[in-house]
Amino acid sequence: MFSSGGATKQVYLVSLFSAIGGFCFGYDTGVISGILQMDPFKMEMNGTTSLSPLEQGTITGLLLAGCFVGSLLASPCSEAFSRKRSIFLSCIVFIIGAAVQTGTNGYASMVVGRAIAGLGIGGLSMIVPLYISELAPKEIRGRLISFQQFTITVGLMLAFWVGAGTQMHFNNQAAFRIPLGIQIVPALILLVGVLFLPYSPRWLANKGRYDECLEVLAYLRSHGDKTNPAVVAEFEEIKNEIELEKQVAVTSYVGLFKGSVRRRLILGIMVQIFQQFTGINSIMYYAPTIFQQAGISGVSASLIASGVNGVLNMFATVPAILFLDRLGRRKVMMIGAIVMGTAMLLCGIVMAATGKVSYNPASGVNEVYMGGNLSASYFCIVMIYIFVAGFAASWGPCGWVYPAEIYPMSVRSKGTSITTAANWLFNFVISEICPVMLASITWGTYIFFGCCCFVMTVSIFLFFPETKGRSLEEMDQVFGGGILAFRDLRADTTPVVSDREKGSIDKMDM
Ligand code: BGC
Repeated sequence: MFSSGGATKQVYLVSLFSAIGGFCFGYDTGVISGILQMDPFKMEMNGTTSLSPLEQGTITGLLLAGCFVGSLLASPCSEAFSRKRSIFLSCIVFIIGAAVQTGTNGYASMVVGRAIAGLGIGGLSMIVPLYISELAPKEIRGRLISFQQFTITVGLMLAFWVGAGTQMHFNNQAAFRIPLGIQIVPALILLVGVLFLPYSPRWLANKGRYDECLEVLAYLRSHGDKTNPAVVAEFEEIKNEIELEKQVAVTSYVGLFKGSVRRRLILGIMVQIFQQFTGINSIMYYAPTIFQQAGISGVSASLIASGVNGVLNMFATVPAILFLDRLGRRKVMMIGAIVMGTAMLLCGIVMAATGKVSYNPASGVNEVYMGGNLSASYFCIVMIYIFVAGFAASWGPCGWVYPAEIYPMSVRSKGTSITTAANWLFNFVISEICPVMLASITWGTYIFFGCCCFVMTVSIFLFFPETKGRSLEEMDQVFGGGILAFRDLRADTTPVVSDREKGSIDKMDM
């Protein structure tokens, strides 16, 4: 078999550029927590200097609801209009939502703006990894899709610092309108730039546009040389797979429940749900509360909590970009979950052992008082940072890489859109239950997420096949074995009967 090699400058640039979608995702999800604290914003919302929990929850949650719907709608769009044009459309929707938020004149318009922006982000979060997976050489597919996670973390970090900066310098509406407006700029850049990006070669092939598919592959792999043997081999592999799938595959949503695709659907959804059940967003959304519980209070608490956290989250994604394709998805997810689980458990145990839980009638919630035990406080904070770094280097990228690479072409966009929607749904669930957990079971929250991480480690070991270095066309084989994935690893060379072959055999039997 030829290796496509193909790690050209073009393929890096196209992937990085489309990953601007991740920046919008990170920025818009991250910008709101700071803005909700600003007095000029609260005044604009309801004429007072406070927002009710319901108002806060709706402003935060409607974005996630929009993302959920957007990721589901993105599938038919990306099928019919192409991945590239769907990125364009998602940008338009996002820009409208961001503009409505920037120009908000009250609670109603803010909520509408959040929901519209969510539709755009939901679309981008599904299409960008799908697009990159379809144009990436198999050897560096993990790395290229991880670019999206990197840009998410850049967006989250910048959102925090821009918000902190405008809050410090402006005591008027500019404090919240500037951070809300800034996000339009990267979306505009992506909107215009995407028109110059190539179509996904696999989407082209699926539409029968083989000549263009070969042209794009040649552009991405060998500076336009269509006779390069590796390019020709990859082209043939894609073409053959698509032709064969056309004979046996069911392309409707029903196809997701046939043969090994059902297994892939379950595993893809599980990866996304697991990603949220690491508890990452308990930290991302409630960092100031968490750090207060760990014994740090005041303005510096919020700065240390969110600011340092954001920077760490971004830098810790780099090892994943470097090593994900070498170590493989399974190892990275298992090691990541063990690191995160250990950090969460230790944090919970130390808080339980050294802190005192008491009811605060002013806030109406249980709080942990660490009693000025500074070493215990610092220990917990370090554990939280280790947890975040562990996530950034493992489940952050893998949550997006794995689901985008496992489906056959016939139902790839449908599968990816359902798994992405699962991510947003559980993002919402965690954001709703987390404050309740922190206020009621306090340190138990960390024990809970720690245990979840260990359950994930075992599940990955048992059920999730390794996908590194395999082409998208080979996934039929990767998932064609028994449901216990670690057995297939031991017998990596044993041939398995793919769905396609089963389909042909069924046909011959008829
Ligand atoms: C997750 C988000 C999370 C972010 C943190 C993403 O992969 O999907 O829910 O907030 O990582 O970096």
